[in-house]
Amino acid sequence: MRAVTFSRHGDESVLELTEQPMPVPAEGQLLIQVRAAGVNPVDWKFREGAVGTDRRFPLGMGWDVAGTVVATATPDGPAVGDEVYGMLPLPYAGAYQEFAVLSVSAVATKPVDLSFAQAAAVPLAALTAWQSLDAARVTAGQRVLVHGGAGGVGHFAVQLAKARGARVAATASPRNLGFLRRIGVDKPLDRTEDHPYAIEPVDVVIDTVGGRTQQESWRLLRPGGVLITLPEPIDETYRVPGITGRRVIVAPDGEALRRIGELIDSGAVRVEVQDVLPLEKAAEAQLISRTGSVRGKLVLSL
Ligand SMILES: NC(=O)c1ccc[n+]([C@@H]2O[C@H](COP(=O)([O-])OP(=O)(O)OC[C@H]3O[C@@H](n4cnc5c(N)ncnc54)[C@H](OP(=O)(O)O)[C@@H]3O)[C@@H](O)[C@H]2O)c1
Repeated sequence: MRAVTFSRHGDESVLELTEQPMPVPAEGQLLIQVRAAGVNPVDWKFREGAVGTDRRFPLGMGWDVAGTVVATATPDGPAVGDEVYGMLPLPYAGAYQEFAVLSVSAVATKPVDLSFAQAAAVPLAALTAWQSLDAARVTAGQRVLVHGGAGGVGHFAVQLAKARGARVAATASPRNLGFLRRIGVDKPLDRTEDHPYAIEPVDVVIDTVGGRTQQESWRLLRPGGVLITLPEPIDETYRVPGITGRRVIVAPDGEALRRIGELIDSGAVRVEVQDVLPLEKAAEAQLISRTGSVRGKLVLSL
């Protein structure tokens, strides 16, 4: 099968389209013909060597899969021919390829209204948002601030928080403020302003940006509030007593994907795909992702 692999860490030029043996599903796994693979910042971080793994080169790429089940090694779950989407476990990439094996517990039926490309945009980013809202125990009526509300994780965090009944503020650059309104943000904030945070203290901050944004987040929270950060661990220098701060690391979860799929099919959550590129353009897709300015998601089609 054709697969995007790399045999040393480096910039996008280390990515190669290679011929690899067909993966074989172990007990509890499905063999999926990949129709589309999502692109996430962790892909190029992994390629650059910033994410450790115990596997040897050549390494595969990507964690998000949408496709058709072609073989199963489990009596449970989807059958051959079913259309599914799911996420591989970190740090074991293998989605930018014609066939992938996923644990049956990591997949769900593809939302009916989504194309394969749209479905591949969902798993890692939406699960990150879902698990962040769970970790912060977001409930109806709470005030939630999402830093980076137009990005892959951010646009799901905004919509999933709204679906839980929260009031949502989110930051973006000026060109994305209209998009934030369209996905339901109550208070879009222009991140390029000198003082972007014209808001009352919030109950929860979801930080998809990190660095100085994480440092600034403490003062935006009410006492007892929760800061969830995603790009990096909490910088203890800035921690404020009385506020919970923690990093969430996403994990595959087929049941959560099933529930997210219901919200997508109901129209409560929409999936923004900035662009779909062919598998052969994986390097270009990662270069674009690395700019940090993608609205929604980038996807590779097969
Ligand atoms: N811990 C985990 O398990 C986990 C899981 C998923 C992602 N992550 C990490 O979380 C980060 C975000 O992931 P992602 O997939 O959402 O990335 P992404 O889709 O590449 O995010 C791009 C978005 O970030 C926005 N942005 C960039 N700088 C910003 C700033 N200073 N303030 C506000 N918005 C800003 C951009 O919006 P504008 O152009 O409008 O500014 C753009 O829409 C990455 O570092 C990723 O590695 C961690």
